[in-house]
Amino acid sequence: MTAKEIKTEHLDTQQFIDQQVKEISSSVGDGIAINALSGGVDSSAVTMLGHKALSSRLKTYFIENGLMRAGEPQMIASIFTQMGVNVEIVDAKDEFFQALKGITDPEEKREAITQTFYKKIFGRLVRESGAKYLLQGTILTDVDETVAGIKRQHNVFEQLGINPQEAFGYKIIEPLVQIRKDGVRKVAGALGLPASIYDRMPFPGPALSTRVIGEATLEKIKIIRLATTITEEELACADVFQYMAILHQDRVTGIRDGKRDFGLQIEIRCWDSVDARTAKPTRLPFETLEKLARRLTKEVPGVVSVTYNIAQKPPSTMEAI
Ligand code: XMP
Repeated sequence: MTAKEIKTEHLDTQQFIDQQVKEISSSVGDGIAINALSGGVDSSAVTMLGHKALSSRLKTYFIENGLMRAGEPQMIASIFTQMGVNVEIVDAKDEFFQALKGITDPEEKREAITQTFYKKIFGRLVRESGAKYLLQGTILTDVDETVAGIKRQHNVFEQLGINPQEAFGYKIIEPLVQIRKDGVRKVAGALGLPASIYDRMPFPGPALSTRVIGEATLEKIKIIRLATTITEEELACADVFQYMAILHQDRVTGIRDGKRDFGLQIEIRCWDSVDARTAKPTRLPFETLEKLARRLTKEVPGVVSVTYNIAQKPPSTMEAI
């Protein structure tokens, strides 16, 4: 069953917050719930809703899956610590790279991440903490795209006929499932989160593994992490929905130091969108793109080609896998 949408223009943030806090409190009762904070606007809003409802009976974890951007776990944990929310960083890098080993198919990659995250890591955290509930930031767009068979978002289960209680041993509460990204931003602001969080660009749950076409090895993640840092620095002032660097699987011929270099190619995408259902490539100034290409080819080892995506969603999707 798909949740009934609350359109952003009809969203009364305070009423929504009160309602969700009440529902979380009554579902969890005097028990314990856990949640994973990634620092994205969805999981951040859920963390604050859960914190309001349960205080210290909500255990918040940042799962360090080895696929996050540079410095991200520490930066996010410190923002929430300042807001009075204790965040525990769980080192699960080895488990995720082990699970991703040898996998090239996009949907299999997502499935490997899902199983590692929900079954292995959260299964263990649930057992250790005694929690019976997981709070998570699934939004309506995640459900829509999964149900439509476009892309299996890693956080959608019930709508696919998967019972989390049977599959993983705990119940899932989804306070944001009736709203979309623009609505979540309003709620996050109303919850007192800083603009660096509520205005934060979306970043996919499977993190940098979605930005590598083909197998997401430690080496390739290192390359895309550096390319992502550079891309985010260069495009930071663009007033857009989302931008990203993608590492392609194919190599292309380039020249370095006067010799043939059969090197790597990076694709840049930058999107104008309101709610991620449709999107258009931003008409970035060519000088911005040229500067970005210069830095990527100079600073990221092995990169000889940089392209800019000019196709719209649909038929493209925003992420490449
Ligand atoms: P797509 O690529 O589906 O992305 O057009 C729509 C928005 O959702 C974000 N997002 C994800 N995309 N797998 C994805 O492919 C995920 O698990 C996921 N989680 C979030 C994506 O970054 C874009 O903003």
